Amino acid sequence: SSSAFFIFILISYYSKKSYGEELNNKKFPKDFMFGAATASYQVEGAWNEDGKGENMWDHITHKVPSPIVNNDTGDVACDSYHKYKEDVAMLKEMGVDFYRFSLSWSRILPSGFDNEVNQLGVEHYRNLIKELRANNITPVVTIYHFDLPQTLQDLGGLQNDFFIDRFVDFARVCFREFGEDVKYWITFNEPWSICNIGYGFGWLNATAASPGIGEYLCSHNLLRAHAKAWRMYDEEFRNDQNGLLGITISGNWFEPSTNSSADIEASETLLQFTFGFYIHPIVHGDYPEVMRKNVDHRSALQGFSQSRLPKFTQDEVQLIQGTTDFLGINMYTSSLVTLEESDDISNISYTADTGVTSWQPEEWESSGSSWLKVYPKGARQLLKWLGTNYKGIKMIITENGYSDNDGELEDDKRISYYQRYLSNIRDAMEFDGVDLFGYTAWSLMDNFEWINGYSQKFGLYQVDFNSPNRTRTPKKSAKWYSKLTRTKCIVD
Ligand code: NOJ
Repeated sequence: SSSAFFIFILISYYSKKSYGEELNNKKFPKDFMFGAATASYQVEGAWNEDGKGENMWDHITHKVPSPIVNNDTGDVACDSYHKYKEDVAMLKEMGVDFYRFSLSWSRILPSGFDNEVNQLGVEHYRNLIKELRANNITPVVTIYHFDLPQTLQDLGGLQNDFFIDRFVDFARVCFREFGEDVKYWITFNEPWSICNIGYGFGWLNATAASPGIGEYLCSHNLLRAHAKAWRMYDEEFRNDQNGLLGITISGNWFEPSTNSSADIEASETLLQFTFGFYIHPIVHGDYPEVMRKNVDHRSALQGFSQSRLPKFTQDEVQLIQGTTDFLGINMYTSSLVTLEESDDISNISYTADTGVTSWQPEEWESSGSSWLKVYPKGARQLLKWLGTNYKGIKMIITENGYSDNDGELEDDKRISYYQRYLSNIRDAMEFDGVDLFGYTAWSLMDNFEWINGYSQKFGLYQVDFNSPNRTRTPKKSAKWYSKLTRTKCIVD
């Protein structure tokens, strides 16, 4: 019997290696959804074809001199506008349950306004959705993923409150044209990035970088636009279309750098300034208390007669509260935090408002992106924090992934990243009661990584950007991910 036991151990060992379902302690629920993501500007190309209008990324990337690494542009990108069928075949090959992609606003409404709908643009997304459905892949559609029509950006973009109704108009066109076949909608991708990187830090195209002001104006408008679009869906479409409408927020996990109560508080503050910034209004109708307190206080000290953080009217509180069916989370990395003991009021900025300093230790495992350090246990911590703070909200990870710079096919580091993050995510579900219904790998394929052009690659598929037909090749991670989507379990 001792030899039978030995054989049992051997079998267990080898079946674990081959992703044996029964023995796996990290099995995801049967109905848990696995998907892969992209975004319009990052993959489509065809920047001026079939009546598409110019958007702010067309505008930025065509500047001379170019602010983009290697002068890269999304003019052709992965050419997904033409190769969408191949994209769907790749998704099929990987066995994913859903595809998260975004709609190019200026492809559908070339002027930015809804005075003219570009039928060829609409047609393109209809075809993509049809192809997905024919292959049993659920579309998860982001309405806004960074590519604002340039016409609207010229008018101040999200800092101007005229944006609110323009977004609602665009969303209405999307629901009307695609809502019969789309049951998962995401209004905005990464409000924090849109507003802080876009208008606060003054990244690239912001009409004017206004640190400490632009990011709050942008967020205030974005939240009202999200809420108005959700209510409009509720009133005009929900009965017929029966879809779910959420928002995707993003940020690092902020780990207290020591056990001191000051550093624990610093962590809480930064999480509120990052995630609470957007979720708190949607759940409770207003910004988190610590944001209100810090920004009001510093604004007063700085001589502003009104807080730089705008206030919602009572009607707006009512409007915004309760306007999400689920929460999308983009998570990649973590930082350490400590309290910044400084009463310097000359610094007018979001970062100074937080009163907290954060950093990533040199020795943390690196990736192809300077901001992305590998810290798997942060994933569990973050989900636990979100689950505890926003009880009862269903969550889906709408992005998680790893970059390198060469896009090599033998991408063991990417596999290891996914493996370790998913293990922590699974633990958050099993041990911390986190209500998660899906996971999305960023990205389906190497693509245009914003200011970093094609120098940072997140793909499960490699794209040859030197070949005119943008040849796609599965990386080792794509094969690994196929196993995951089919077994719904990982092995530690
Ligand atoms: C966040 C963004 O949503 C996506 O566009 C970007 O490419 C990835 N993260 C990686 O940086």
